[in-house]
Amino acid sequence: MILDGNFTRKQIYEELKIRVDAQLAKGKRPPCLAAILVGEDPASQVYVNNKVRDCEEVGYTSRHIRLTADITEKELLDLLGELNADEAVDGIIVQLPLPAHIEESKVIETIQPGKDVDGFHPINIGRMSKGLSAVLPATPAGIMELLRRYQIPTVGKHCVVIGRSNIVGTPVSILMGRNTEPGNCTVTLCHSHTRDLKAYCLQADILIVAAGKQEFISADMVKPGAVVIDVGMHRVPDASRKTGFRLVGDVQLEDVGQKASAYTPVPGGVGPMTRAMLLMNTWQVYWHKILSEVIS
Ligand code: GUN
Repeated sequence: MILDGNFTRKQIYEELKIRVDAQLAKGKRPPCLAAILVGEDPASQVYVNNKVRDCEEVGYTSRHIRLTADITEKELLDLLGELNADEAVDGIIVQLPLPAHIEESKVIETIQPGKDVDGFHPINIGRMSKGLSAVLPATPAGIMELLRRYQIPTVGKHCVVIGRSNIVGTPVSILMGRNTEPGNCTVTLCHSHTRDLKAYCLQADILIVAAGKQEFISADMVKPGAVVIDVGMHRVPDASRKTGFRLVGDVQLEDVGQKASAYTPVPGGVGPMTRAMLLMNTWQVYWHKILSEVIS
């Protein structure tokens, strides 16, 4: 079975649009996302453009803020301070990576946790780790949502995660081990120092690959019937395509797809779910604000 991220993303957008329309019908403003791009990295430009376009699709407003790569750290932090204070802005994202002279952790920690729709702020990570309500990082949340919507059984399963990044591997390992549905897995977190990676992979009922290495996982590393989630995204030159490249993941999908009971394609698996979760997170912080206004 293919875990279709494109289809699921569209489903989520339809659901969000209904919620937004209901707010508009009540005379309320729609959610607003501020998306900041520093510099001109082509991949980052595509990601931010997609985020802004996605906002339009569901009826959110957005502020697309483009800054040149020579902006100082202070100028960026000051701008974030203004957006934090701006009542009309619900969610803020700063596209990563940032130029080397800007400290990523300072930027992440300056965004008010209640507007941190990337879920990268230590308060959101800490709350997530404790099982408290939190804004979840978009890619791990997207993986969980895909497992939920396809009703993939996870309780008591062995989930092997490859890669321990702050954005994907570490948070998804926490979420899969939590007492939630999906969740309740026994989790093994593998990384660059893991010995005999193949032996762990072969034990995985659910294999989540966020190694950042092109076609790293071959079919002989996958247990028959496993669920395989491929978080990788790599551009491979391909003269037969109009764009000049094609996208492949961290998994050799052609062979692995034959062996797995379910898997995410690349493109069209985890990527669209990350986009959808950013919008879900933006709805979450917007709605939380509305509820707190009603209660107070
Ligand atoms: N760069 C790569 N992935 C992400 C993400 O999820 N959020 C942000 N802000 N930047 C990224």
